[in-house]
Amino acid sequence: MDHASFTEICLHQLKMSGVRDGEKVVVITQGNERLDYADAFMSAGQRLGAKMYHMRLPAPLPTGGWAVGVNGLADMPEAVEALKNCDMLIDCVFLLFSPEQMAIQEAGTRVLTVVEPPELLARMLPNQELKEKVEIAGKILESSNTMRITSPHGTDVTYKLNTYPTVTEYACTDEPGRWDHWPSGFVFTGGDDDGVDGTIVVAPGDILLPQNIYVREPITYTIEKGWITDIRGGLEADIVKSYMAGFNDDRGFGMSHVGWGMNRDAKWHRMVPGEFPGGMGMEPRSFYGNVMFSTGPNSELGGSNDTACHLDIPMRNCSLFLDDKPIVIDGDIVEKDIKIKG
Ligand code: FE2
Repeated sequence: MDHASFTEICLHQLKMSGVRDGEKVVVITQGNERLDYADAFMSAGQRLGAKMYHMRLPAPLPTGGWAVGVNGLADMPEAVEALKNCDMLIDCVFLLFSPEQMAIQEAGTRVLTVVEPPELLARMLPNQELKEKVEIAGKILESSNTMRITSPHGTDVTYKLNTYPTVTEYACTDEPGRWDHWPSGFVFTGGDDDGVDGTIVVAPGDILLPQNIYVREPITYTIEKGWITDIRGGLEADIVKSYMAGFNDDRGFGMSHVGWGMNRDAKWHRMVPGEFPGGMGMEPRSFYGNVMFSTGPNSELGGSNDTACHLDIPMRNCSLFLDDKPIVIDGDIVEKDIKIKG
C-alpha cells in the first residue's frame, strides 16, 4: 500500500480513537519492522494536531525465538516511563501480555496494537456501529452467569461465568488506559477455573490458530471441571496433541477465553496462506457469528494459568446461549441489540 493510502486509513483510525489537537501519541516499532506504519501514523497524527513521536527499539538479539510477553522494553524502564506519560501508544511491536504494557495502561495511556498487514487493516477499518454493538455485547456477556455452546456436530459445553471480566475488541480505543487491536470485532470472557464441562466438536472448516489451518476431520474435546481430559479425531487432532505435548506443560489443557465474533468485514474464507505474510489471524477470530473457544492460559483475564501453550479456535455454525437466552444460532447473531446488517 502506498504511503498516501496508508496515511488515510491511519487518519481514520486516529479519529475513531479520539486523537485530538495537542495529544501526545507515540508509535513504537522494533528493528526494521513496520517502519512504514510509523511513517503513516506520524503523517496522520500531524494532520490532527497531535504531538507525534516514533520510538524505535533495536532489533532483538538472535537468542532463540519469540516468547509471548517478552519484549525489548523489559530492560528500558526509562522508555516505559515515557510511554506512561503519553496519551496513546500505537504498538507495532506486539507488547501484548507483557508487564510493561500493563504498567503503561495502568498509568492511563490507551494502547492500540497494529501488527497486521496494511491490506487487512484497510479491509477491516473500525466503525461506529461495530464499536457500539460490541460494547452492548460486552455488557450482555458481563451480566451473564452461564454460557452454553452447541452445534450440529455434537458440541455441547457449558461455561460458568462467575470469575473473569469481559473484554471487548472493536479495533479502536478512545478511553484512557483501554487496550484494543486493529483489526478485530468480538467479545470474550473466561469460564470459572473448575467451571467448564462438556464436549466441543471442532468441525470441518473451523480454524486452528496459531496453526492457521482449516480443520478437515472433526476434533472432539472432552472437558471436565475446566480441564481437557481427552482429544480425539484424525490428522488435525494429532497436530493439536503433538503441538500441545511440545510445551511439556499440563496447564495447556486448561480452558482459556471464550466468546463470539461480530465483524461483517471479516471473512471466514479469507485465511489464504501466504496472501498476507506476517498476519496473525485477527480476521478468522473476528468473522461475524463465529464462536471461538481457546485452550491454555487465563492470565490475560487475571487468572493464574500463564502457560505459553495456547490455541484459539474459531468455529462456524454454532449456537451460543447466555443464561439460556439465544445470542448466536447456527452461526448467526440473533440477539437484536447486537445484530449488524450484512
Ligand atoms: Fe487467544
